[in-house]
Amino acid sequence: MKAKIGMLLFIAYLVQALLPWEWHAMTELQTGESYKKWTGLLLFSLILFQWTLVIARGVYEKNGKEKEGQVNLHKWAGVLSPVIFYVHSASPSYGFLLFLTIIFFANFILGFLNDLPFELKKLRYFNLWLGAHILFSAVILLLSVLHIWVVFAYS
Ligand code: HEM
Ligand code: HEM
Repeated sequence: MKAKIGMLLFIAYLVQALLPWEWHAMTELQTGESYKKWTGLLLFSLILFQWTLVIARGVYEKNGKEKEGQVNLHKWAGVLSPVIFYVHSASPSYGFLLFLTIIFFANFILGFLNDLPFELKKLRYFNLWLGAHILFSAVILLLSVLHIWVVFAYS
């Protein structure tokens, strides 16, 4: 269910980014400096929220049902993230921001691999997958901070 919704949202983002079609009302909004900053903050908050799973696991050592609930919330937030991404940015631009967009969606797809019947649950594969997911997430965080720094340095 989650995987299907996520894939649909991803394809929708991809189609509108690749085709010459655009939703004018949205791209018009996105020319606003203030709009860009507030929606950017929203997207950045979502990314930070995804990282709270590390705190839940490492610091509070949540387990069982409690952790299950938090992981579920993490998955839903992740699945719906293309909507927030699109609200902030409908076209991935080029260069550095294009790279950030690609890594963001690669990590999004990676998230779903966990729900495929690959027996990822077997510990060895799970750790490999989680390592890749955390590495991608760290790169996203780093590039986002760099992007925000550039935005404020030049405004
Ligand atoms: C507080 C956080 C953020 C602020 C204030 C912000 C602000 C901005 C601004 C002002 C622009 C337009 C300037 C330009 O074209 O260079 C922009 C573009 C962009 N931002 Fe952000 N941003 C934030 C977070 C993020 C995050 C977390 C991502 C992705 C993970 C992201 C992805 C992009 C992309 C791909 C573009 C280029 C395409 C476009 O202009 O629509 N931003 N951002
Ligand atoms: C904005 C995108 C995302 C970011 C930044 C992100 C970040 C992270 C981080 C940092 C962890 C490690 C937390 C930990 O367990 O210590 C994690 C774990 C995980 N993520 Fe994501 N994630 C994102 C999207 C997704 C998506 C789309 C899915 C799947 C639908 C997903 C599924 C998972 C799962 C299953 C775990 C492992 C939880 C566990 O420990 O059992 N994530 N994520």
